[in-house]
Amino acid sequence: MSKVITSAEQLDFKLSDLQDMPAPGKVLLVKPTYFSVEYVINPHMEGNIGDVDKLAAQNEWEHLRSAYEELGLYVHVEDGVRGYPDMVFCANQSLPNITDEGKKEVIMSVMNSDKRKGEVPFIQQVYEDSSYEIVRLDETRFTDFEGMGDALWHFKKRLIWGGYGYRSSKEVYDVISETFDTPVIALKLIDERFYHLDTCLCILNTETALIYPKAFTDEGLELIRSVFSNVIEASKYEAEKLFACNATCPDGKNVFIQQGCVDVNQKLKKLGFKVHEFSTYEFLKSGGSVFCMKMLLW
Ligand code: ARG
Repeated sequence: MSKVITSAEQLDFKLSDLQDMPAPGKVLLVKPTYFSVEYVINPHMEGNIGDVDKLAAQNEWEHLRSAYEELGLYVHVEDGVRGYPDMVFCANQSLPNITDEGKKEVIMSVMNSDKRKGEVPFIQQVYEDSSYEIVRLDETRFTDFEGMGDALWHFKKRLIWGGYGYRSSKEVYDVISETFDTPVIALKLIDERFYHLDTCLCILNTETALIYPKAFTDEGLELIRSVFSNVIEASKYEAEKLFACNATCPDGKNVFIQQGCVDVNQKLKKLGFKVHEFSTYEFLKSGGSVFCMKMLLW
């Protein structure tokens, strides 16, 4: 049965009522060999065509890769594909799930931009090789869904946060909720500079989220504050220019974040998180940072 929640009155559960899920132990990365800014499909890319320093991008990516290894995650690296300069942002082509019985399945994205549609079959192949059951959306009904750019798993709980408005459509969350037998809290995004949910909401652990409040409606903010007991707010500068909310916290303790988020980092440390800063400047030129440069998997 599908359950999509759009306002706080509809919240009829507490976090403790939700089914537990394991933390993902694997991370998928796509090499930035062909990464560049070749077109403009989000406001951050404007003015940056042809501006990526390939060597710097490679170095930035390598640092992230080693850090995931040091954290103890199994790192699966895929080659990039010529002609797909955004494929390095591998949060976007899919949304994986592990069922309560341990079965692995994945919903493949329907990319909003024609420029990125061709990435999906390559990522699907990775899942096929790892024995995931593949779910394809009916593309005559759903024209936009950008995977874990917009659909974020709550930390270790059977609950999905679903952003919509720019790259994913609201309707898709009914199917996702039904397919994964998981409630979805749908959040409307209202600022095009925060075009994916992962640019304005970072789920750090079961109780804690980092957000950029102005990217959400009042209803959305109420939902976020009703579920998370700790909500950290990023400033406009750190959220928009440094993609602070595009951080990732794979184990609920260690936060990987773009360097220079001084204010957010102070707040994170106060709550006991261990902060690891990375330079992702080359990827910021394309409108992405740490979170969307990977896919966490089971
Ligand atoms: N240039 C890419 C795009 O616009 C960046 C994607 C970043 N992904 C994300 N989930 N925020 O599609």
